[in-house]
Amino acid sequence: MSAPPRHAPHPYFIDTRADCLLIGTQTITEIAHEVGRTPFYVYSRAALGARVSELRQALPSSVHLHYAITANPMPELVRHMSGLVDGLDVASAGELRVALATDVPREHVSFAGPGKRDEELQAALAAGIAVNLESEQEMERLARMSAASGRRARVAVRVNPDFQLKSSGMKMGGGAQQFGVDAERVPQMLARLADLPLDFVGFHIYSGSQNLRADAIIEAQHKSIELGIALARHAPAPVRTLNIGGGFGIPYFPGETPLELAPIGARLREHLEPLSRALPQARVVIELGRYLVGEAGLYVCRVIERKISRGRVFLITDGGLHHHLAASGNFGQVLRKNYPVVVANKVRGAEREIASVVGPLCTPLDLLADQMDLAKAQAGDLIAVFQSGAYGLSASPTAFLGHPPPGERLI
Ligand SMILES: Cc1ncc(COP(=O)(O)O)c(C=O)c1O
Repeated sequence: MSAPPRHAPHPYFIDTRADCLLIGTQTITEIAHEVGRTPFYVYSRAALGARVSELRQALPSSVHLHYAITANPMPELVRHMSGLVDGLDVASAGELRVALATDVPREHVSFAGPGKRDEELQAALAAGIAVNLESEQEMERLARMSAASGRRARVAVRVNPDFQLKSSGMKMGGGAQQFGVDAERVPQMLARLADLPLDFVGFHIYSGSQNLRADAIIEAQHKSIELGIALARHAPAPVRTLNIGGGFGIPYFPGETPLELAPIGARLREHLEPLSRALPQARVVIELGRYLVGEAGLYVCRVIERKISRGRVFLITDGGLHHHLAASGNFGQVLRKNYPVVVANKVRGAEREIASVVGPLCTPLDLLADQMDLAKAQAGDLIAVFQSGAYGLSASPTAFLGHPPPGERLI
């Protein structure tokens, strides 16, 4: 018996048939035939639905769940998600177009992100969605457009809080930030907003991403609610939306464990009571990207060649960094670690070995698995990278080296 694979746990694709990974009732080999080529991304509707159900069970029922489509903007997937969640959050006019092609009511679509171009603000104004204002200058620009069009834009103020989401993979609040308006400046901004042709709807307090610690998320949620209540005293209209951020992470690397939802739900329930007394019209929004979709997707590529160099095994595949930058370790990792990876048509395998999975690019950065315990693979075998449903294709440099783009399937 070989050692068990040492990689992060992945909840959804654990079944096999004839040692071949199953997605629903289909093996990866069958899916590869259907797609007609490798590499490809595949996302599972069943896994997406299961994830939303787990969240709904854990969180208070009054909490609105939004999908931040930045994590995976594939239009078919966004359409599917739009039937499961309460709203969509976008970060560009391109993402806005994808959101507007779904049935999500426009009052449940919001647009965040620094440096929104005039065309983007115009698109948001015309669509009637909420703009999360990232600065006072942005507020003034949007107000001028509102005045010129005779239509009042719906706006929330994105607040840069004076606290951080501790232990986050990415911190986006606290200290000096390009995101949002520093909390201490928000009262004077709200006083100005009251004189402008804008409809104030609430606050957006987004402090970080990729967090696996329930206690850190609980603390940030609590502080966000307190901050929302405090700032509401300066608001020109009742707070109707209090977006308390998201940041729920998924395990990617060896030693990481899944986020515990139950304590987050329990504490949020307690914190919602004082909130509903202070801000009776406010609906609380949680904005999640990778937690909703990250574990519901795989990246699949094919071994072109098995090469031995000075005793080390390299599986050279038709996929790599250009399709899946994050799995190669070049999307924000300081020390490169392996995503969960298997030989998808030989999950257990008769023989195992330590091998590295690389791509066809002429750079040593093109590495999908570094010296992992894998089934012994040959040319033609399929490699699957788990945790690939978020920040995969759309976060990768597909033009780099001129290889064809991957396929993408929602099944
Ligand atoms: C404002 C905002 N919301 C949501 C997200 C999605 O984060 P995640 O996919 O980690 O949930 C991001 C990511 O950077 C963001 O900036």
